[in-house]
Amino acid sequence: MGNSTNKLAWFVFAVAAISVGLYPLTYFVIDRKFGLLASKSEALLASIPWNMGFYGHILLGGLALFIGWIQFNKKIRNANLKRHRIIGKIYVIAAVISGSCGIFIGFWATGGIISSIGFISLGTLWLYTTSMAYFAIRKGDVQLHQGFMIYSYALCFAAVTLRIWLPLLTMAFGDFTIAYRLVAWLCWVPNVIFAFFWVRKKGIILG
Ligand code: HEM
Repeated sequence: MGNSTNKLAWFVFAVAAISVGLYPLTYFVIDRKFGLLASKSEALLASIPWNMGFYGHILLGGLALFIGWIQFNKKIRNANLKRHRIIGKIYVIAAVISGSCGIFIGFWATGGIISSIGFISLGTLWLYTTSMAYFAIRKGDVQLHQGFMIYSYALCFAAVTLRIWLPLLTMAFGDFTIAYRLVAWLCWVPNVIFAFFWVRKKGIILG
């Protein structure tokens, strides 16, 4: 990849992560009956556990996405390893909380069982890859850490890819529920495939 193509790719990557990372804040600025919440029942909206799960999920997921991309830039990382470790710890804590909350609210996902299984699988894989990456670096295995973090952030990036796929699928099918069931899978399966090839290209062998 040429240098300018590389810079452009970094720019697009960072802008996508930052803007979708900030997106959850709109739920605090605009009336609650906005976005996804407009499709939820009054009973669900009144449930305290569900609300804790929802806000815990979107706030900490937003944080993980907002800071995660920085960790992949070699220049920034090598300039200050202490900063990499601090951001990394924040990312892991945010991912564990947001992922657990995501799994919990996944049971009430719009679109029913197909959406639920899609989101619950995504959350489980996010927790698994993030903790594997953390334990790898605790043992000093940089390669394994990098490999699992590529998978972890590719899964976190589902928040970005979901917002690209959803309008396209809604237009293609002319039905939001069908589009949502599909997006619960399409938001992360291609990302995992991308991560697989990225990890292989770097010559990293997992496990
Ligand atoms: C990677 C693991 C993730 C899982 C398992 C997951 C799961 C979910 C689930 C189950 C819902 C509710 C769907 C429904 O009730 O129909 C949801 C909504 C949402 N998630 Fe995530 N999510 C993940 C990552 C993220 C990240 C990294 C962000 C950061 C921006 C995020 C932000 C949101 C927002 C803002 C909503 C509300 C819906 C909307 O406004 O579009 N999620 N997520």
